[in-house]
Amino acid sequence: MKQDIYDRHFAQDIFSRLSGTYDTVNRISSFGYSTKWRRQLLQQLPIGLEPKRTLDLFSGIGETWHHIKDRFPGTEITAIDFSPGMVLQANKMNLLHFNGDVKVLKGDVLKAELPNGYFDLVVCAFGLKSLAPDQLAHIAKLTERVLAPGGRFAFIETSMPPGRLVRMLFSFHIRYVVPAFGFIFGHAEEFRMLWRYTSAYRNSQHAVDAFSQEGLEVFSDSYFYGCATGFHGEKRR
Ligand SMILES: C[S@@+](CC[C@H](N)C(=O)[O-])C[C@H]1O[C@@H](n2cnc3c(N)ncnc32)[C@H](O)[C@@H]1O
Repeated sequence: MKQDIYDRHFAQDIFSRLSGTYDTVNRISSFGYSTKWRRQLLQQLPIGLEPKRTLDLFSGIGETWHHIKDRFPGTEITAIDFSPGMVLQANKMNLLHFNGDVKVLKGDVLKAELPNGYFDLVVCAFGLKSLAPDQLAHIAKLTERVLAPGGRFAFIETSMPPGRLVRMLFSFHIRYVVPAFGFIFGHAEEFRMLWRYTSAYRNSQHAVDAFSQEGLEVFSDSYFYGCATGFHGEKRR
């Protein structure tokens, strides 16, 4: 039977199992690009912005928090992820590097009861690809709902590059090289999912459409020949 990759329990289990090695494999197998892209994600936001409250969706072990704090030292971070393994690592990261100041929520983003109009910034790194199209529309609605008027958002996701040669090379990389690194750390099967999710996601255009449909002002972003795509924007006042 074909596995439903968008099944909540399936994704939760995959990410929980690889939580102990996720960051290391990610850094090594992306040759540092995943870290660079998270930094660039924050750079999409305008200079002079001072968000009081930031929401990190699909927060994993908190890989984006250093970048958020570097860019916006005064912001309070709320993070949400549903994989027990990831949240366990996130709590450790919080205590070790952030004085326990990050509010870490364990829960399904698709069911989260986050307050209306509360956040000034919503960020999300590499969390969209494990969502089906109707779930993407839900994230667009959620972002619109939780942002204060004038609030900003920035999302990034691994994607299939438009150029044939780069797409061939990148596909080979995520299909075979990343799982090989995963294999070294005992999680080849879990890291193989990067290919399945990314090839199904393709790029962020459908997410851009879903966010635009919510009345948000959206600008598309492309990173390194389209190996990652994303978008940023604003909730109109
Ligand atoms: C590829 S990781 C990204 C983690 C991190 N943001 C980063 O920059 O690497 C995707 C994360 O999304 C979480 N996730 C997937 N679907 C979710 C859902 N419906 N609710 C909450 N978390 C979810 C997984 O547990 C996983 O930690």
